Amino acid sequence: MTTNAEDPATVIRAYPDGPILVRGDFELLDEDGRPVPHDRRTIALCRCGRSAIAPLCDGTHTLLNRRGDSS
Ligand code: FES
Repeated sequence: MTTNAEDPATVIRAYPDGPILVRGDFELLDEDGRPVPHDRRTIALCRCGRSAIAPLCDGTHTLLNRRGDSS
């Protein structure tokens, strides 16, 4: 596993009014600590609280942003 800041094993980036993207090697756990299966090296985590597939983003935030409703 690489820990070099120039080439990290995992990159986490928050997008304005959108999800948090996680790229690289990671394990995703639910609120009870159980693994959430995924087959991708990049996932988007919902932070608007409106996703139907939480903890993953389903794009609902884009509808909220168009309405100006971020709550
Ligand atoms: S951030 Fe995309 S659905 Fe919540």
